[in-house]
Amino acid sequence: MSAGAKTRPRPRHAAPTLELKVRNMSFLLERLGRDCAPDQFVRELTVNAVQAVQRVGGGIVVWDHEPVHSRRFGASKLCVMDTGVGMTGPEMVEYINHLASSGGVQADDGNFGVGAKIAAATRNPAGIVYLSWKRGKGAMVWLWRNPATGQYGLKPLGRGKGEDAYWAPVPASLKPALIGEHGTVVVLLGATESEDTTLPPDGATDDSSRSLWLTRYLNSRFFELPEGVELKAREQWGTPGSRVRPARGMKHFLDLVSHAGGRVRLPDATAHWWILPEEVPQELADRYPSSGHVGALFQGELYELYTGRAGTAKLQGFGIAVGHQRVVLYVEPRAMRRRRVVPNTARTALLVNGRPLPWDEWAERFRENLPAEILALMEEVADARSARDRTESFKQRMKGLANLLFIGGSGGENLRRLFALEAPPQSRNGKGGDDVAATLPAPDPAAERSRAPGADADSRSPGADDARPEPPRDGRKRGESDREAPLPELDLDRLLELEVVWVTEAECGAVERAARYIPETNTLLMNRDFRVFAGYIERWREKYAGNPAAQREVEDLVREWLEQPLRELVIRSHFLRGTPGWSDEHIRALLSDESLTAVSLPCYLTEMRLRAAVAQRLGKLRPAAA
Ligand SMILES: Nc1ncnc2c1ncn2[C@@H]1O[C@H](COP(=O)(O)OP(=O)(O)OP(=O)(O)O)[C@@H](O)[C@H]1O
Ligand SMILES: [Mg+2]
Repeated sequence: MSAGAKTRPRPRHAAPTLELKVRNMSFLLERLGRDCAPDQFVRELTVNAVQAVQRVGGGIVVWDHEPVHSRRFGASKLCVMDTGVGMTGPEMVEYINHLASSGGVQADDGNFGVGAKIAAATRNPAGIVYLSWKRGKGAMVWLWRNPATGQYGLKPLGRGKGEDAYWAPVPASLKPALIGEHGTVVVLLGATESEDTTLPPDGATDDSSRSLWLTRYLNSRFFELPEGVELKAREQWGTPGSRVRPARGMKHFLDLVSHAGGRVRLPDATAHWWILPEEVPQELADRYPSSGHVGALFQGELYELYTGRAGTAKLQGFGIAVGHQRVVLYVEPRAMRRRRVVPNTARTALLVNGRPLPWDEWAERFRENLPAEILALMEEVADARSARDRTESFKQRMKGLANLLFIGGSGGENLRRLFALEAPPQSRNGKGGDDVAATLPAPDPAAERSRAPGADADSRSPGADDARPEPPRDGRKRGESDREAPLPELDLDRLLELEVVWVTEAECGAVERAARYIPETNTLLMNRDFRVFAGYIERWREKYAGNPAAQREVEDLVREWLEQPLRELVIRSHFLRGTPGWSDEHIRALLSDESLTAVSLPCYLTEMRLRAAVAQRLGKLRPAAA
C-alpha cells in the first residue's frame, strides 16, 4: 500500500499526512471487477506471466488444465504456467494480497498493481491458487472470497506466524515438468469448486467454441509478444486431437496472409492497415479474427476491437465503403508531452488525456489519405466501372430537370444553396452563418476520384484547368439580380455526384435492408442480396435466359432504375438539411437503412419505367419464351 510513498517521496519538512485508507476493500474490488470483460482475466494472468518470463530473459507461458486440482475437485481447472522469475511465499503475500502492490514499475504506462486481483479474483471466488518456485523452492497461496464474510483475501494455509500463516511450502507432486528452478502456476477454481474453468466464461467475447476460445482470445488481444516469450494454449480439450499450440498474436497472422499492408500517418497516431485474402485457410480462420475489423494498438496489445457489424460501421467511417470484409485497421495513438495515452484502470479501454479515443477524427484523416491498394480493392469489389456509367446517365437525366430537385423556397434561395457549395471552406463549415452551406458532404477521396475532369468544386486552385466563370461568392446578390440566369452546370454536377455501388449484404452491412448511405464518403451501398432487388434482377435475367450479353444489359438497366429513387432521396435530402424542422438527427433518420428500404418498396412506377427502358435498349432482342 505504499505506492504513493514509492513514487513521490514526501518533502522533508512537510507535516505527515494521514493517508486515505480503504474501509471496504472487497466492495471496491468487486466494483472494479465489474468494469472488466468476463474473459479479461486471461489477459491479466498472461501479462503477469509474460512479465515474469521477461525478467529472466525469456521463456514459456502455457494455458492448460491443472491435473492435481482437477482431480481433487472432480472438475477441470484451468491454469497458466510460466517459466518466469517466480515468487517466494512472503512475496506472494505482499504482491497477491495487496491492491496496487506490484513487483514491477508502478506508472501510467507501467504496472498498476491491480490487474490479476480485479479481473481474476472477482471471477473466481472459489479461489485462485498460486504455486510458485524460486531458487528451486516452491510456495503456494490461495486467494479467495471467504463465503462466510464476503471478504477477498488469502486463506490460511501455513503453520507460520502472522503473514506467514497464509503461505505454505508446495509438495513436489504439484510441480509441472515445464518448470525447473523458477516459475509459477496459477490455477483458477472458478465460482464454485465444482466449476469446469476450462470452459469459456459466460459472456466471453468468443463463448461459442470450447476448443478454441483461449487461442482466439489470446491471438486477438495481443498484437505481438515480446522477443523471447513463447505463448501457448491447449486446444480441443477432452478430444483425441487435443494439444498445446502456439498463440502468436495478430501481427504474425497478418504478416502471414495479407496481400498488402502499410501505414498512414495521422496527426497524433499511426494507422496500420492490411488487406486480407478472399479466402483465409480454415486452420487460421478458426484461430484469428479473419474478417475485416478495427482496433487500437498500444504497447503491443489490441484495445477496443470492433468486429462484426461494429467493425463494418467503423471501416465504412474510415472510407472503406466496400471491401471492408478484407481490411484490418489498427490505429496506434502516439503519446506526446501534452497527450497522455493510458489504459483505464480495468485495461478495457484506452484514454487520451482522460477522454475516449478520437475515432471520428482519425477516420476523417484516413479517408483523406486512403492508400492506393485499398482504393483498388474497393474498385475490385464493387465493379465500379459500370456503376460509374450509371452515375453519368443519372446526371444527364437529372440535369434536364434540375429545377425539380429543389424543395421549397424561391428559385433564388435554391440557387444560393447551390452556390454555397462553391463557397470558401470557412462558410462551408457553416461558420459564416450560412447553415445551408453545410448541406453537402465535404469533398472526399472517393468523390475526387470519380469526379469528371474540371468538375472539382473546391476552390483550391481557382481557374487552374477550368474555364468556367467564377460563381459569385455572395449568393444573395446573384439570387436577386440574376434570378433568371441559367444554373451553372458544374455546380449541378457536384450536387448529382454520388458513388453508388452494388455489394453483398455482408459488405453492405445493412441486413435485410435495401441499402446503406455513408455520409462520410457520400456513398450509397446497394444490397444486392436484398430480397426485393434480387427478385427484380432474377426475374429480368430469366426473361433473357440463354443470352448472357442481353442478361448483362438488362441487369444493368434494372440496377439503374432501382438506384434512381434512392439517388434522388439522398440528393434531395441536401435541400432539407438545416431548414426548419430538419435537425441532423432527422436527416440521419431520413437516410437510414429503413428509409432507403421504404423508398425501394413501391414497384409500379419502377416496373413501368424498366419495361420502357428495356424495350428501348434491347428492343430488337426477343425475350426467351415467357
Ligand atoms: N506469474 C507471476 N510470476 C511472477 N510474479 C508474479 C506473477 N504474477 C504476479 N506476480 C507478481 O504480482 C504482482 C501483482 O500482480 P498484478 O497483476 O496484481 O499487478 P501488476 O501486474 O503489478 O500490475 P497490473 O495492474 O498492471 O496488472 C506483479 O507485479 C508481480 O510482481
Ligand atoms: Mg498484472
